[in-house]
Amino acid sequence: MNMKLSSSHLDNIPSTPGKFKMEKASYFNRFRWHYSSLAKLTFWSFVFMGLILVFLIKSPPTSPTTSIPSDLSRRSLKTKSWGGPGWEKRVKSSAKIRSPNGLSVLVTGAAGFVGTHVSAALKRRGDGVLGLDNFNNYYDPSLKRARQSLLERSGIFIVEGDINDAVLLKKLFEVVPFTHVMHLAAQAGVRYAMENPSSYVHSNIAGLVNVLEVCKEANPQPAIVWASSSSVYGLNTKIPFSEKDRTDQPASLYAATKKAGEEIAHTYNHIYGLSLTGLRFFTVYGPWGRPDMAYFFFTRDILKGKSIPIFEGANHGTVARDFTYIDDIVKGCLGALDTAEKSTGSGGKKKGNAQLRVFNLGNTSPVPVSDLVSILERLLKVKAKRKVMTLPRNGDVQFTHANISYAQREFGYKPTTDLQTGLKKFVRWYVSYYGSGKKNDH
Ligand SMILES: NC(=O)c1ccc[n+]([C@@H]2O[C@H](COP(=O)([O-])OP(=O)(O)OC[C@H]3O[C@@H](n4cnc5c(N)ncnc54)[C@H](O)[C@@H]3O)[C@@H](O)[C@H]2O)c1
Repeated sequence: MNMKLSSSHLDNIPSTPGKFKMEKASYFNRFRWHYSSLAKLTFWSFVFMGLILVFLIKSPPTSPTTSIPSDLSRRSLKTKSWGGPGWEKRVKSSAKIRSPNGLSVLVTGAAGFVGTHVSAALKRRGDGVLGLDNFNNYYDPSLKRARQSLLERSGIFIVEGDINDAVLLKKLFEVVPFTHVMHLAAQAGVRYAMENPSSYVHSNIAGLVNVLEVCKEANPQPAIVWASSSSVYGLNTKIPFSEKDRTDQPASLYAATKKAGEEIAHTYNHIYGLSLTGLRFFTVYGPWGRPDMAYFFFTRDILKGKSIPIFEGANHGTVARDFTYIDDIVKGCLGALDTAEKSTGSGGKKKGNAQLRVFNLGNTSPVPVSDLVSILERLLKVKAKRKVMTLPRNGDVQFTHANISYAQREFGYKPTTDLQTGLKKFVRWYVSYYGSGKKNDH
């Protein structure tokens, strides 16, 4: 119908419409001209709209690795503080291997507690290290900035960006052919999941998938070691927790996202030949630790004279944790990196079966939380105001205890720091960082 309309109106358009011709035209002709130019406008509007429609329908879909929900992409775009020759030079220099047979490792979550320690340890032994972190404000970002300064002093550059930013990640792999990825960036914390569930999906699910998507496309593909969590054991009652035990009863969304991560790792290993090692950390503590963890805020609150909640299970059952000192965790991370086999695929294609592992990294010596408080009281020389409460059912489990024989067998993992010794080091750091003043706040 459009075609018919257009051809008839095309006939009516004067060959050279213009002022001169218009002046000479009869009233009828003038009417005809007005009518035809209106029709012409309508016709071209239709054509124009049609073209837009065709363009929209035919335009290629956004690459799956870059299509993330708008609120998330906005967050990622906000982080576009990278690029340029100077930036690339810093990236290359930070990732430069300085020892024979050294690794080049992309450490995500490098401004975090574990990430900072692992990055520093890798650098110390001559590996190339590049950090990536979005410096989010889940806890005081100034602590992350202080860790960043610490790493900068030993030549480690932390790129500021989100693990969901596929463009950035691809760029990093273009600049450096990383042999390994130590993936530690995540939304941590068990109770916060009830407040902000989407942050767990954003970082622990979508972010993990994005990291794996980019790794699978990389050529060569890196080997990936990543942080799962002891929380995957959830309501499991068989102790000590073994990697062979069931992990299908998570007690928090955090645990569920870590468990999902383990299944996602299986998929990427199976389909793309990515070498993947998951590490189930058990309550890591130490200097430069996380302020949202009990040992940390107990220290702060004891010093301030504030009461601290001591949880107990049903029937006054003991709540205990397999507290693991950061240096032992770092040794476990390095052991896992050093024994990680190469990925077998390249450019998104699997070429053979690749390694897939999951290890417990704990201390294998659970300590009741009330004992932790007693140690802190002695170290701080302040009596704690204990407020005994029933463990709420909002994510925490009553007991954790790691069986570490698998990690021991595979890479000689053997924790050597007991809670008393580790807390002494933590308290020394805490006091030097925040001071021992009782009015401290952070
Ligand atoms: N500390 C523990 O006791 C413990 C126990 C079990 C598992 N884990 C896991 O170990 C890893 C490290 O934990 P941590 O204690 O160092 O926590 P952390 O919060 O100190 O470190 C995580 C870092 O990742 C960054 N990050 C978070 N989301 C990001 C994103 N989308 N993009 C880029 N960066 C992002 C954060 O800014 C932070 O600096 C996490 O995966 C955590 O779930 C830790």
